[in-house]
Parts: sequence; C-alpha cells; structure tokens
Amino acid sequence: MKTVVYTEYGPPDVLRLEEVEKPTPKDNEILIRVYATSANYGDIVARDFRHISPRQFNMPFLFWLLAKLSFGLSKPKNPILGSELAGEVESTGKDVKLFKPGDQVFGYRGQSMGAYTEYLCMPEDGVVSVKPTNMGYEEAAVVPSGGMTALHLLKGIGIQRGHKVLINGASGGIGSHAVQIARDLGAEVTGVCGTPRVDFVKSLGADKVIDYTQEDFTQSGETYDLIFDILGRSSWSRCKGSLKPNGCYLLASFKMKQLAQMLWTSITGSSKKVVCALSPQSVEDLHSLKELIEAGKIKSIIDRSFPLEQAAEAHRYVESGQKMGQVVLTVAHDNEN
Ligand SMILES: NC(=O)c1ccc[n+]([C@@H]2O[C@H](COP(=O)([O-])OP(=O)(O)OC[C@H]3O[C@@H](n4cnc5c(N)ncnc54)[C@H](OP(=O)(O)O)[C@@H]3O)[C@@H](O)[C@H]2O)c1
Repeated sequence: MKTVVYTEYGPPDVLRLEEVEKPTPKDNEILIRVYATSANYGDIVARDFRHISPRQFNMPFLFWLLAKLSFGLSKPKNPILGSELAGEVESTGKDVKLFKPGDQVFGYRGQSMGAYTEYLCMPEDGVVSVKPTNMGYEEAAVVPSGGMTALHLLKGIGIQRGHKVLINGASGGIGSHAVQIARDLGAEVTGVCGTPRVDFVKSLGADKVIDYTQEDFTQSGETYDLIFDILGRSSWSRCKGSLKPNGCYLLASFKMKQLAQMLWTSITGSSKKVVCALSPQSVEDLHSLKELIEAGKIKSIIDRSFPLEQAAEAHRYVESGQKMGQVVLTVAHDNEN
C-alpha cells in the first residue's frame, strides 16, 4: 500500500511516497481504509521538529523536551505523519464488538500519528467513532484534532448563554471549531484573525471579527467573559483590562510564565482568572462532536484538497500562510492489493 513517509526532519521535500506492507489488525483492532487525512499544525511541527527551538515551541520547556523525546532526537522515530483521519472499516480483529466492516469512521491518533497512508489499525477503544452522517470523508477528517481541543477546553470553562467570548486565533484548526462551539452555547462571539481570513471567520458564525493587523482588541474598550487565546500571542497584562469581573483568560498555548499567572490568580482569589489547559484525547469528545455536527452546529470548511501523493505540496501550502480553512489529503484506492 502507498504511504507518505519521512525519515529525516526538514522542509516539505522530506515527505516521500513509499510502498509499505498493509497492516493486519490485532484481536482488539479495526483495520481502517483511510480516505482522508489532513495537513494540520501538528503535522507541520512534527515534520521539522529538529529545527523547532524551545522558544519557538508554544509550550513550556518540559513539554518541548517530552515532544523531542517522543518524536525522536535527530530523526523521526515514527516515519508517518497524520494525526486525524476518516475512512471505512475494512476488517476487524476477532474480539472487536463496537465496529463492523463497512462502518464509516473518523478518528484521532494524537502523537502516534500514522494517517498518511492507505490503511491503518486502531484499537476499537481508541479515539475513533462512527462518522457524522451529514459529512463526507474530507470534511470529517479535519474535525478531530481542532474540534476535540476546542470542545474540551470550552466545556471546562462553563460558557453561559449571553456570555461575551473572544477567540484569538479564530481562523485556525482549534479556533474555527471554538467559534462554532461557543456560538452553539449561546455566547456572543468575537473572532480575531489576520486580514485574509476575516470573511472566513464571519462565515463560521462569529458575531464580530477583529483583524489583528489593524486593531488591538485589548484597546477597544470592549470587555469579555472569556478571552480564549489559541497561540498565546496576547498577554495577561494586556488582556485583564478587557475581562469582565469573574472573566477568564484561557490559553491553549502557554509557557511557565502563564502557568505562574494561573497559580497566582488562583491562590490570591482574584475575580479574573488565568487558565492554562490541556485537552486529553477522549472518544467521548469525539462522540459529542459527531452529535454537534449532525445537529448542524459545526461545519468544516475545506480550503484545498491534495492527493496523498502531493503531501509535500499540501505542507508547502499550509506553510505559505494562505489557507482559509482546512487542508485535506485525500487517499485514492485504485490499486487494491
Ligand atoms: N492545550 C491543548 O491541549 C492543545 C492541543 C493542541 C494544540 N495546542 C496548541 O494550539 C496551537 C495550534 O493551534 P491551531 O491548531 O489552531 O493552529 P493553526 O491552525 O495554525 O491556527 C493558528 C491561528 O493563530 C492565528 N494567529 C497567528 N498569529 C496571530 C497573532 N499574532 N495574533 C492572533 N492570532 C494569530 C492564526 O490567524 P491567521 O492565520 O488568520 O493569521 C490562526 O487562526 C499550538 O500552539 C499548539 O501547541 C494546544
């Protein structure tokens, strides 16, 4: 079967097509025929992790070190990228009860990745669920990574109807889902993004969109119940004046400084809180996303699709900073073996 591999860190050209052996599911595993996967933030970072310094990494040094050990010090340990996917169950191990051949599924592989391929195995109790009925494979494949993170972090905050929520980084994988989930929870949502993506964020349902190249949202005089910063490009010192009493500054990317601010606002009983949060990989969140999608609350907007063979081109496109929505890799199965 064809698979895109990388055996050294570097630019998109390190991705190359290879023939590898089709896997066989263990007793508790399902074999998935992959139809679509994505080129997302995690794939781009993992592909060139050797050149990502602790400073460039949007998380504390310890997280960088753990990622370095997990991805591989001088060359990638796991040669196949792709953290999210959609496809069809081809066969199942003898103990599998939750899925049967022919089920259309979508799933998340996290740091173990491996979806840039025609077939892969996942344990039936992994982060895999039946695909939403109202989405095709391409649309479903770009939901799990950003969708689960947005859902999990927003759930933990307890947004209420009428709350004012600002999402800084609203046009990315996490932010585009956060806008839609916060809207569904009844919040009034302001999205912040760069100039080319203003209309894209509006199309996600944001009530208002701020272009960060034109306006500093912390200087507008508006106040919010929640400021959710995806990349951690803002700062607590600038944002606290833009929070309502009891408001929350939620960070998906943070350093030790923000962790210390979280501790400080917690122990001093400050009415405005800093929250640095991690999203675990949970199949329950994937099931919740499926329900939200089927209820018409979340949609995927695909900017461009590339065949798997053009994974390098897809990575180049993402890195060019032009994307408006998600970038998909489609996997054709014309040479069945
Ligand atoms: N906490 C967790 O559990 C968790 C889980 C997964 C990932 N993460 C973190 O999430 C981040 C990746 O998020 P993602 O997948 O959504 O990335 P992404 O798809 O690359 O999107 C990044 C977003 O940030 C925006 N942005 C860039 N520069 C900005 C600035 N100066 N001010 C405001 N917004 C800016 C971009 O806007 P434009 O493109 O419009 O400029 C885009 O909307 C990483 O830092 C990763 O470590 C955290």
